[in-house]
Amino acid sequence: MQTSLRILCLFALCCVSPLKASEHSEHLQASQAVVQAFAQQLMTQLQTAVQSQGPVQAIEICHTQAPKIAQALSEETGLLVTRVSLKPRNPDSVPRPWQQAVLKDFEARLAAGENPQDLEYTKLRRHLWRSEFRYMKAIPTIGLCLNCHGSAADLAPEISEILATLYPADQAVDYTEGQIRGAFSVVQRIR
Ligand code: HEC
Repeated sequence: MQTSLRILCLFALCCVSPLKASEHSEHLQASQAVVQAFAQQLMTQLQTAVQSQGPVQAIEICHTQAPKIAQALSEETGLLVTRVSLKPRNPDSVPRPWQQAVLKDFEARLAAGENPQDLEYTKLRRHLWRSEFRYMKAIPTIGLCLNCHGSAADLAPEISEILATLYPADQAVDYTEGQIRGAFSVVQRIR
């Protein structure tokens, strides 16, 4: 086979059967639903813990419950759901290159005046042997977050101490309200 023909075949393989609009919205809805479940479960536990026990004890929720909720939801739905950040606390939250590019784009969109609550990204990534639907949603910083992600100099000493022990490479401080703390990321394998 001539090289040009081979390239043409490869190109055709990559590009055939584009996702129908209905399929796109199905994948989008599934991604949005899993992110909403993650956000709600985490927020409920975090708010309850901060109110009933205070922020020091609530660190335990973020430390142990956040990864557990993500794992349980991923197993339940078959969609890989994680949290990522340009300034991660947990080293597992370091973004992959495509996630980093999206996070930077979210920053640019925020600077251009978009509402951080509404920042979303979708992409169908085609490979020869499988495809994946990628979804990200920005996580804005609100007042409650500042207990553990606010100005490093203003954090309660007990909080700084626990964070330093649990996360020696922590970068997730010095945020202010309205900034993007990170994003939920969903990867859905299709076909
Ligand atoms: C009680 C302390 C505490 C509060 C309050 C808190 N966080 Fe966190 N946050 C943490 C800890 C601890 C981690 C690391 C979790 C882990 O080990 O996966 C974390 C991790 C994260 C991550 C994952 C990325 C990373 O840096 O590892 C995001 C996103 C995040 N927090 C957003 C928020 C937002 C948004 C709020 C406010 C609604 C908030 N947090 C409130 C302690 C807190």
